[in-house]
Amino acid sequence: MSLATVFVINHQTLKIQRNPRRRRSIIRQFALTTSAHGIPGIARSQSKHNRIFWSICSIAFVAITLYFVIREIRNYFDYSTQTSVNMINEWPQYFPAFTICNLVPIRSDRFIKPFLDFTDMLNITRTNDSISISSNQAKYIADFLQIKVNQNETFDEFFFPLDTMLIKCTFNGRSCSAKNFTSFYSSTYGLCYTFNAKLKNMKNIQYSDEYGGPGNLNLRFYVHSHQYVPYIREGIGMIGMVHNNVQLPLIDSAGIALATGFKHRITYTKKTISYLRAPYSTCDDKIPSMMQAMFDNYQGAEYEYSEDICYELCIQVYVYQQCGCINPKQWNARSVLLPDTKEIIIAPLCNISDKCYSQAGYTFLTSTSLLDQYCSYCSQQCSITSFNLKTSMWKTPPTWLLDDIKKFAETSQIPLPIDWSTNWRSHIDSSYLSIELIHESNLVENYTQTETMTAVDVLSNVGGQTGLWIGVSFLSLMELAEMLYRLIRHQYYAIRRSRNNIEDDNKI
Ligand SMILES: *[C@@H]1O[C@H](CO)[C@@H](O)[C@H](O)[C@H]1NC(C)=O
Ligand SMILES: *[C@@H]1O[C@H](CO)[C@@H](O)[C@H](O)[C@H]1NC(C)=O
Ligand SMILES: *[C@@H]1O[C@H](CO)[C@@H](O)[C@H](O)[C@H]1NC(C)=O
Ligand SMILES: *[C@@H]1O[C@H](CO)[C@@H](O)[C@H](O)[C@H]1NC(C)=O
Ligand SMILES: *[C@@H]1O[C@H](CO)[C@@H](O)[C@H](O)[C@H]1NC(C)=O
Ligand SMILES: *[C@@H]1O[C@H](CO)[C@@H](O)[C@H](O)[C@H]1NC(C)=O
Repeated sequence: MSLATVFVINHQTLKIQRNPRRRRSIIRQFALTTSAHGIPGIARSQSKHNRIFWSICSIAFVAITLYFVIREIRNYFDYSTQTSVNMINEWPQYFPAFTICNLVPIRSDRFIKPFLDFTDMLNITRTNDSISISSNQAKYIADFLQIKVNQNETFDEFFFPLDTMLIKCTFNGRSCSAKNFTSFYSSTYGLCYTFNAKLKNMKNIQYSDEYGGPGNLNLRFYVHSHQYVPYIREGIGMIGMVHNNVQLPLIDSAGIALATGFKHRITYTKKTISYLRAPYSTCDDKIPSMMQAMFDNYQGAEYEYSEDICYELCIQVYVYQQCGCINPKQWNARSVLLPDTKEIIIAPLCNISDKCYSQAGYTFLTSTSLLDQYCSYCSQQCSITSFNLKTSMWKTPPTWLLDDIKKFAETSQIPLPIDWSTNWRSHIDSSYLSIELIHESNLVENYTQTETMTAVDVLSNVGGQTGLWIGVSFLSLMELAEMLYRLIRHQYYAIRRSRNNIEDDNKI
């Protein structure tokens, strides 16, 4: 109803003020008809008091609106996030990679002789035979290996090759062999072997339903525990890890223990976490060149960026700069990228007795400024895939399997124990284990980071605030634009008219 009144006033004003005060009339017409609240209130006020009241109200509410609008926009630029969880049915699903290592990496038949030569050189008293070592000698195993690494000698010969351990391998009923595994060096477990890792230039990853099976990997191993070099590790068995096909297995920290004498049943379900990219998080998937140099040692496996490894590598750079050598425990990753020269060098290992590396490592880890300086390129991973495992086990081997295992042990390249002919059953008991890795469910636990506020949310919040306090919408802005247009046009004609008048005057 008020709108009708407005129009009436409008017509009258237009009639009264024809040409002379045209500009004021344009503004006044806008003020009376605009859909923004407040301004018509001021324009139609008859008394001064009324006008002051409306002016104060309008200014106050515009200020309140501005406050809230600015707050909304600043909230948006905080880029806050939230995490949503859902279970999704992923089908088909890749079978994960499975990495396995012998618990004691070094076999004594190859190791003892060169090692005894080494301890003789250091004048350390021997035991009185040439096939065993004393606990005093065992303290020098690390030194022996460190010196070998620094002389660029490989010690592959000291490790157990996979084909001497793997009795049988089947995946979904299809048989596989040592050739279906890729190998790499772990600093703690020596040579480790991975089934189903992603290889470069090859679409080789198996789906869990490959060959029509349910996703079931069966492995039988003979670990040759009589050949374990003593004093290295307390325990007999293997260590395994289920991981993503493109993830480098950090088996030293994340592996699970597998004891001999049992059949281990491991079931897995998959879990993924994905992060939003910049500007919401600092995540990045780019592989730094130093990490690439490390990955190149992994037999053509194509691994993705890993934040944990990135930190290990940047600590190494610092230790190298401080000591001129790197932590001897990390003999498997000696490539160091020097930050000033951008050159990758093969760093020597520190002497075990030299404490420089542990000092430097400690200094580094307790200083945030060093961490920022050396590890600035270590960003967050954009996605993490992990597996929830359930393990349980049966006693093994049953008697019907003994003959097969016995035959395998006798034909493998590893020398048998001296008392094999009489004690083979107890040797098999302490060296045989089997593993069954089973796909449990297609449901994937999916954690996704999402933005708390999208651009559309900001727009609706701003709209809500302006609508609530001052009643301004985009069309109100159009009315303002219309008024400006009319003013400009009026001004333009006024100038033209006055110029014409001057010209006319000049003619006369
Ligand atoms: C070992 O003993 C021999 C003779 O006893 C000595 O000549 C040699 O220097 C010693 N070597 C070391 C490394 O101590
Ligand atoms: C070797 O050591 C054993 C005990 O460990 C001892 O009985 C034996 O006499 C020693 N043999 C020699 C040749 O010293
Ligand atoms: C081992 O290799 C590195 C790099 O290839 C080289 O700098 C170093 O001199 C070598 N060490 C020995 C003992 O040959
Ligand atoms: C093992 O590799 C061979 C080729 O090297 C392939 O034909 C076979 O299917 C693989 N087995 C499994 C179970 O992946
Ligand atoms: C390590 O020990 C060897 C001899 O045992 C010595 O020549 C070398 O200088 C030592 N290296 C460091 C970094 O202390
Ligand atoms: C998890 O969910 C997000 C969105 O809901 C989707 O983009 C992503 O592909 C899902 N992850 C997997 C492994 O399916």
